[in-house]
Amino acid sequence: PKEKLKDELLSVTSTKEWDEKAGFDSNENESTVSITVVGASGDLAKKKIFPALFALYYEDCLPKHFTIYGYARSKMTDAELRNMVSKTLTCRIDKRENCSEKMDQFLKRCFYHSGQYDSEENFAQLDKKLKRHEGGRVSNHLFYLSIPPNIFVEAVKCASSSASSGNGWTRVIVEKPFGRDSESSAVLTKSLKQYLTEDQIFRIDHYLGKELVENLSVLRFANLIFEPLWTRQYIRNVQIIFSEDFGTEGRGGYFDNYGIIRDIMQNHLLQILALFAMETPVSLDAEDIRNEKVKVLRSMRPLRLEDVVIGQYKSHCKGGVTYPSYTDDKTVPKDSLTPTFAAAALFIDNARWDGVPFLMKAGKALHNKGAEIRVQFRHVPGNLYNRNFGTDLDRATNELVIRVQPDEAIFLKINNKVPGLGMRLDRSNLNLHYAARYSKEIPDAYERLLLDAIEGERRLFIRSDELDAAWALFTPVLKELEEKKIIPESYPYGSRGPVSAHYLAARYNVRWG
Ligand code: NDP
Ligand code: BG6
Repeated sequence: PKEKLKDELLSVTSTKEWDEKAGFDSNENESTVSITVVGASGDLAKKKIFPALFALYYEDCLPKHFTIYGYARSKMTDAELRNMVSKTLTCRIDKRENCSEKMDQFLKRCFYHSGQYDSEENFAQLDKKLKRHEGGRVSNHLFYLSIPPNIFVEAVKCASSSASSGNGWTRVIVEKPFGRDSESSAVLTKSLKQYLTEDQIFRIDHYLGKELVENLSVLRFANLIFEPLWTRQYIRNVQIIFSEDFGTEGRGGYFDNYGIIRDIMQNHLLQILALFAMETPVSLDAEDIRNEKVKVLRSMRPLRLEDVVIGQYKSHCKGGVTYPSYTDDKTVPKDSLTPTFAAAALFIDNARWDGVPFLMKAGKALHNKGAEIRVQFRHVPGNLYNRNFGTDLDRATNELVIRVQPDEAIFLKINNKVPGLGMRLDRSNLNLHYAARYSKEIPDAYERLLLDAIEGERRLFIRSDELDAAWALFTPVLKELEEKKIIPESYPYGSRGPVSAHYLAARYNVRWG
């Protein structure tokens, strides 16, 4: 029946007829959005993009008239695409009774077109199909480039030259990596701008769509108690930590060309740092926020080799199970020096943050999975209660922890009197635990970002000058690591990472949280 519906839909000639067949309300005055997932046969499309689009549909967040096209070289029918997509759809947000009905309705709006990424002709065929679905309405086009970066530009060129001069907008979501260094990133930006304006390019960093990263600005700017403390006067150090308890399984081919600094630090962790450390924006407008992010990134010192530790995981046997080395992956050269772990100390040379170390740590195949921001405050001057802590004064300082994932939470470590007749102090948490406080499930980052792209909200996407500033910080050290062929320190799969990360932190009087 689905195939039959497809044939019927493709043979329709008018909007009204299409709407009736597809079960939509007809309204000639409304616009349509056509979303094309380029690289629809791939991992990201299956795992994240289609499920996020369904979640938006399920929550009634998509415009009334929309069509989704998968585009890739693989041969697939609409029915096969729908079958593939249906396997990853869930009604996890809330399991209303009409879930499976909603899934069917959503799948009816999904189609597939097989084509090459460098063929204008194939994109023109796609465009013809889109037009039919659009039925003469004002047509808006969103392309999601979920393909390897070496074919971004070809695909954009073909999509833009064959796309009808639609009377609505055209936007392109570009996945990371945006280059490997300052030069290649500049070339990519220049090439994309031959076909698109900056306003049409939505560079995605999915960490910006995570609930607690979005909340950073609210925490800072909507609470009187935090902003006055957000300076070198009160903050000793800031730690931004990412860890995964699995290796690069399945993505070794991509990863070996990039490494953990490019994969996680230069984008996800640096974006968190920028939001954490920027000055108050003039407004919540995208350009005002991005202006502040660029300013703080440009106030940072390029990372120095002596402030970096790199590591690579090695095979480890635990509980009778042998976990592989990074280089056991068949797509990774045996002598690869690509880091799967890195720790770095970064500094912001401005009045607010002068001398405060911002420590980053990111690693694959570690002992746990998580992402968090730790803010360690200074000692209370002349603290009357110091004697309670003996010589370990670090234990007495306050710490604010923003746990981005999993089990989202914000907690503040404070000193508290242990109830009783004596005077004993204890460190306790003031805890905002999301699962306990909010009953609704947190949406996936891709849902927020896709919705923003459809609505033209650019706040959570990376502007080209932000990207330039981010690469400027990491490019010199990346080059040095590669030119000097620095050997990464080994660490066992499932461990806490290389010991040198502790020495790096200790050099700045920091203890990892
Ligand atoms: P895939 O490797 O799965 O590629 C997506 C699709 O592109 C494939 O299904 C394939 O489709 C086509 N393709 C793959 N290799 C080539 C090639 N050498 N030449 C031409 N076409 C090719 O990528 P992912 O789905 O994992 O990722 C897509 C993008 O998203 C990448 O830029 C990646 O860096 C980024 N990304 C991915 C994440 C993930 O978790 N997977 C996370 C964050 C970013 P076909 O053969 O049918 O044309
Ligand atoms: C991607 C990286 O950008 O982020 C992956 O390329 C990493 O290597 C992933 O696994 C982590 O994302 P999340 O949302 O699972 O923390």
